[in-house]
Amino acid sequence: MEVFKYHIYLCAQPKPEWALSCAGCGAEQTLAELRSQVSKSGLDSEVQITTCGCLGLCEKGPNLVIYPEGVWYCGVTSDKVAELVASHLKAGKPVDGFARTDLAGMKREIIEHLLKVKARKEYMDRSGMLPEGVNNLMRGFMESRIMLSAIELDIFSAIGPGSSAKQVAKRIKADPRGTETILNALAALKLLSKTGDRFHNTPVTARDLVADSPDCGRPAMMHTVHLWHRWSTLTEAVKKGTAVELVEMKKRDPKVTRAFIAAMHKNAWFSAPLVVSAIDLNGVNTLLDLGGGSGAYAIAFARKKPNLKITVFDLPNVIPLTRKYIAQAGLERVIKTQAGDLLKDQPGKGSDLIFASAICHMLSPRENISLFKRVRKSLNAHGRIVIQDFILQRDKISPRFAAVFALNMLVNTKAGGTYSGKEYLDWLEKAGFAQAKIQSLPGPTSLVIAKKK
Ligand SMILES: C[S@@+](CC[C@H](N)C(=O)[O-])C[C@H]1O[C@@H](n2cnc3c(N)ncnc32)[C@H](O)[C@@H]1O
Ligand code: FES
Repeated sequence: MEVFKYHIYLCAQPKPEWALSCAGCGAEQTLAELRSQVSKSGLDSEVQITTCGCLGLCEKGPNLVIYPEGVWYCGVTSDKVAELVASHLKAGKPVDGFARTDLAGMKREIIEHLLKVKARKEYMDRSGMLPEGVNNLMRGFMESRIMLSAIELDIFSAIGPGSSAKQVAKRIKADPRGTETILNALAALKLLSKTGDRFHNTPVTARDLVADSPDCGRPAMMHTVHLWHRWSTLTEAVKKGTAVELVEMKKRDPKVTRAFIAAMHKNAWFSAPLVVSAIDLNGVNTLLDLGGGSGAYAIAFARKKPNLKITVFDLPNVIPLTRKYIAQAGLERVIKTQAGDLLKDQPGKGSDLIFASAICHMLSPRENISLFKRVRKSLNAHGRIVIQDFILQRDKISPRFAAVFALNMLVNTKAGGTYSGKEYLDWLEKAGFAQAKIQSLPGPTSLVIAKKK
């Protein structure tokens, strides 16, 4: 029994490059047109539209089936939707010559198609072709690089309300052929739309990547553009077991540091209030945000407990940026800052809680134990350390993000990495902490919480 008068199942199944599919034949445009025509015809409360997997007639897509009658239509390109809606859904009459009536023929086609696909797969396997997923993994950098170059060239800002490739090339001071090629690829990736010879930002790129948008994330995304260069040294770093040609954080180009802290801020701005809400601040009057970066967490702590005495500790070249972010939040009188080096200083004397977010992965196991020992001395009796990081399971292969992020540390630090919960608990015990426990958070990070013995 149908809940709605009609229920349409539209196949939107993407397939490997070598296979024909509804997605490849324009199912997305058909879906958009179908939704729009159904709405325009006042049928929203009578027609339910669901995208579905393969219906077996992939060479004839986009395909759909309309229930309760179970009428099949093949080759429903967007230009055919208006007639289908008017005839089948409004007038209750399947479209003559378009609705499939030859059920036996259809069944034969589906079976023939299945056998063809099976034979093709077997042939590809025999001829040693890489499975699609593995091939995509290997080539994934191409699409990533297109986006990074577009960010680097500030293409989305240059497009403005809509521009031709020639206009964009002039604004970004680049070659017209090169510019047109990357614009077409960006449109293929759905990061832009293209009408005639004009390119337009999508709602997402207009909000997140155009310089005059209040939500523009480009300054933060430049950090990923910089990471690309570090990741290109991965092979060498694997051979050496450490980052190659590394510039110490405190000596980095200000432009690189600005992008790094902007990226930390963008990530933390969303997650900090959620993380801070999971931390018990009962009895906590003084708090150190160790390697606090932009101060996003310190700001969230100050908002959660307004009379808390908070200090953000970070490198001398970062603290001026920290102060800027704290001032933007209007908390410059509430949150103090302190410049130093967490590898040798002992910050946070007299703290009830030391918070270290995304710090331990920059350090080696030995450096972490040494840091925990030093900051333990700074804590008041019964003070706590709260660490936030990407924490691995014992097998070190999951969660996937944490396992991949370990390589980000291999290429970017002398001896950093991602560590298992067990490692954190062992180090904290060695450093004189008790009752250490892991607290899961929604998202890719967890907390490790321990009390001073
Ligand atoms: C990955 S960021 C994390 C920032 C912030 N805690 C957060 O979660 O958003 C690491 C921070 O540690 C700081 N840092 C790195 N090495 C440091 C050192 N030797 N001494 C003090 N701070 C350091 C960096 O400047 C940066 O702000
Ligand atoms: S991909 Fe749509 S019917 Fe197979």
